Amino acid sequence: MSKAPLYKVPENFRDAHITPQKYQEMYQRSIDDPSAFWADMATDFLDWDQTWSRVVDYNFCKGQAQWFNDAELNVSYNCIDRHLPKRANQTAFIWEGDDPDYSVSISYAELKDEVCKLANALKARGVMKGDRVCIYLPMIPQAAYAMLACTRIGAVHSVVFGGFSPEALKDRILDADCRVVITADESTRGGKNTPLKINVDKALEGCPDVHTCFVVKNTQKDIPWVEERDLCYYDTVNWMSNDCPPVSMAAEDPLFILYTSGSTGKPKGVLHTTAGYLLQAAMTFKYTFDYQEGEVYWCTADVGWVTGHSYIVYGPLCNGATSLMFEGVPTYPDAGRCWEIIDKHQVNIFYTAPTAIRALQAQGDEFVVRSSRSSLRLLGTVGEPINPEAWEWYYHVVGEARCPIVDTWWQTETGTHMITALPGATDLKPGSASFPFFGVQLALLNEDGSEIDGAGSGYLVVKSSWPSQIRTIYGDHQRLIDTYFSHYKGYYFTGDGATRDEDGYYWITGRVDDVLNVSGHRMGTAEVESALVLHQKVAEAAVVGFPHEIKGQGIYCYVTLMDNAEVDENLRAELIALCNKEIGPIAKPDIIQWAPGLPKTRSGKIMRRILRKIAESDVDALGDITTLADPSVVEVLVKDRLSIN
Ligand code: WT7
Repeated sequence: MSKAPLYKVPENFRDAHITPQKYQEMYQRSIDDPSAFWADMATDFLDWDQTWSRVVDYNFCKGQAQWFNDAELNVSYNCIDRHLPKRANQTAFIWEGDDPDYSVSISYAELKDEVCKLANALKARGVMKGDRVCIYLPMIPQAAYAMLACTRIGAVHSVVFGGFSPEALKDRILDADCRVVITADESTRGGKNTPLKINVDKALEGCPDVHTCFVVKNTQKDIPWVEERDLCYYDTVNWMSNDCPPVSMAAEDPLFILYTSGSTGKPKGVLHTTAGYLLQAAMTFKYTFDYQEGEVYWCTADVGWVTGHSYIVYGPLCNGATSLMFEGVPTYPDAGRCWEIIDKHQVNIFYTAPTAIRALQAQGDEFVVRSSRSSLRLLGTVGEPINPEAWEWYYHVVGEARCPIVDTWWQTETGTHMITALPGATDLKPGSASFPFFGVQLALLNEDGSEIDGAGSGYLVVKSSWPSQIRTIYGDHQRLIDTYFSHYKGYYFTGDGATRDEDGYYWITGRVDDVLNVSGHRMGTAEVESALVLHQKVAEAAVVGFPHEIKGQGIYCYVTLMDNAEVDENLRAELIALCNKEIGPIAKPDIIQWAPGLPKTRSGKIMRRILRKIAESDVDALGDITTLADPSVVEVLVKDRLSIN
């Protein structure tokens, strides 16, 4: 790491919003006097209906945080209305369809009309402040309209990624007690359609309280219709007034719920609130991407993940930016699609995931070099550690060595960027997310909870509250305390390991808990295990991650069958189908190994450390296995591992 090459801040970033000196000054102030620092930022970045009495109050032991208490504002007003005097005709969203011949521009004035009309339609169906609305949509503009329409009337959105199965959707609708769902007939990605409405119909069989389902006719496919409950989005919305006054919300009123996986149990509903979230989303967008007036910015994430929330919708719009939303996938019609889109819409800032970069790199440089990409000024990555080879390719081939790369570390729970380079301030080291954002105080801890000084490796924790911090796990505050604030008292525990080098750069090494990161999708090993054991032939299952060239991590399943069960040729397919049904296609096992038994301690705890090593084929590093209840199990697993690839 110390020998990592250093890429200096380029000449054309000397006038960036944040210069090296400014970073030092602002960071120092944000730590020395957080209240004064954040009060200034809140005044600069947001329009308020009423000001705050206190900037911040928090207590990590109780998992409590309050920012800008007693203040009031409206998110959709800040993202739309206040820009209208200057930007009514400026493009808010460029929407690029899956079909390369199809794109649309939506101005800020049009956005306001669409959002108000939908907000009025929601009101007409009885949606009130505080009610939860489930959004299960493809990457179409209506996804952004729906989110913003909720914020306009104070409803709380819960966006569910369109790749989740009916079963997973049902769990999320029930957990948040949503009564209204907004969906589409089908989504189209890479030329293939997914039946979203049919998925919703299946999910709603188990959700008797859902009384309204708005359906966007996206592909015009014939779909089943439940009278009274189902409403055609266009037919309903088009009748509505385009005037809907934004409701003043308290700073700590809930803004959205977003489900994410943990190391145990069902996915948890991460709750974010209004002011702190919006402030940090707006600020990180402007500073991390050094966004300049008039630039076109493109984040390839799906709105079903937090990246889509903060960096397709809220961060860009709060800054009056032009945000590109893409319906499709980077490899359709071929692996040159992203670079074509960049030329077509003159994209200046491009933000994507390492898994996409590796997948495109594997297709060869021809797809890249046939495009110009001359509009590009800055590149970004998010979602998992980026390996230096992928970084160098992104930098040299895609960016032609003229665009800095911001590697942004953060989580659904942190809401917005926490560790990132700032392109005008940070010399880059490939593979390092570099330094903390303003107001973020990090520490690395040893196993015993003591802080590591200077260079070293340990558990990554945050020492004090930040505005876009998770406020609770919906309906289960104790779980918030147990998951994030109990391992090490007085700290927020990230679940990641990290190294700090002699220059103070942070290098995220990955999860230290039982959470997988498969193509940037977060998944609990326990969720996959629960799906596998539903099969009547399966007695026990243990799931671990293993290094995968494109996906970052693959899903490795050890499956123990019932005593008299036989492996027939269908069993593997049946198990894959179960994961698909319970979670969705993103949870497809890469390798299933039949295990006569699992390595367990004498108290019955599965030794995942050993299973991980076997999955990685790193059998020389198995460590001490003598404490196992039955050490001979390991030998069999190692032997069988060799025959799998
Ligand atoms: C986990 C959070 C952040 C939005 C998308 C994922 C990993 C995220 C990085 C990065 C290394 C990263 C961490 C984190 N992660 N960004 N730049 N470098 N690791 O959000 O689904 O909540 O996952 O993703 O392990 O804990 P998420």
